[in-house]
Amino acid sequence: MLLGAAADPNSERGVSCEGQLPAASDESLVERAIAAKKALGSKAMVLGHHYQRDEVIAFADIRGDSFKLAQAAAENKQAEFIFFCGVHFMAESADILTTDNQKVILPDLAAGCSMADMATASQVEDCWQVLNKISVAGKTIPITYMNSSAAIKAFTGKNNGAVCTSSNAARAMKWAFEKGEKVLFLPDQHLGRNTAVLSLGLKLSDCVLYNPWKPNGGLTDDQIKNAKVILWRGHCSVHGRFSLENIKQVRERIAGVKVLVHPECQHDVVSNADVVGSTEMIIKTVKESAAGSKWAVGTELNLVQRLAIENPDKQVVFLDKTLCYCSTMNRIDLPHLVWAMESLVGGQLVNQIKVKPEVAKYAKVALDQMLALP
Ligand code: 13P
Ligand code: SF4
Repeated sequence: MLLGAAADPNSERGVSCEGQLPAASDESLVERAIAAKKALGSKAMVLGHHYQRDEVIAFADIRGDSFKLAQAAAENKQAEFIFFCGVHFMAESADILTTDNQKVILPDLAAGCSMADMATASQVEDCWQVLNKISVAGKTIPITYMNSSAAIKAFTGKNNGAVCTSSNAARAMKWAFEKGEKVLFLPDQHLGRNTAVLSLGLKLSDCVLYNPWKPNGGLTDDQIKNAKVILWRGHCSVHGRFSLENIKQVRERIAGVKVLVHPECQHDVVSNADVVGSTEMIIKTVKESAAGSKWAVGTELNLVQRLAIENPDKQVVFLDKTLCYCSTMNRIDLPHLVWAMESLVGGQLVNQIKVKPEVAKYAKVALDQMLALP
């Protein structure tokens, strides 16, 4: 199944790579990537999310989490072409934040995100109508996680809200409570709950879970009226897998290990970890820890494996015994990157991500609000 990219009608599609991709076994792939990047020179910039494969990260001019990459896209005015090695919602955000002359390319259009697909624009509009019907929409500020379609970001911008990432979710939620009485947090229930309870000191009972597949979100009007945070029923299929049992087992297996997890993990996992942090914070925590430290890390496997290699003086292991990559992040491989870069060298722009102007306009309001958060 194609995720995200295929499902979103608000971005235009590019040319298919079918039959044109170099074989993964092609031994000249690295040289071809070096040659194509050199030929494109300063016209092109490659952005790489930390969850990308090593073979792709090797060609990134900037490596970052979704916040850092959004900032990099917003600040760069020189590169005419931005190869976004990440997933579809990130490429959409880069397109919205760059100028009209800059073009964003996603090397594989099937690199979507199952979490972003858990909130469609029409479901979110239906939810807002439910809130309107009981007269709470006017006091509710929507906050949407970066991991959402451009259409959801546009809804958020139109309704005076902001985008957030895992590195600024607490700041975004505090900002929202200065403006309104309630927050509608989309689409990651875990990041929303963890932020509300662990960062803002709210109670679990202050949060309700809105299920878009049920009438009225599966809630009574009073439950919605009494809630401070309305959490959307979405989650990350990668971070949502980590469990309390994983923590128990790793603590038994490695004496003195510290558990370090991303806030997209379930609330009981986050509550029982030693350190919780965004992707950038996870990297910083391991890097700055003392030699000999032991870390069990609950985030995407490409990053955990890289952390282990880049910190040879520490022990870094994956929190789960079963290894699991983000399958859509992994769609971007060297053959796709080489194909996209060589096509451009040959004069053909492929896989451009172009958000429709009417969607981009309001999505930018919500993205700019995030970038302006104190
Ligand atoms: P960050 O890059 O904001 O940490 O998000 C994690 C993630 O799941 C990206 O898809
Ligand atoms: Fe989406 Fe989770 Fe993969 Fe990030 S790690 S792209 S949130 S499925």
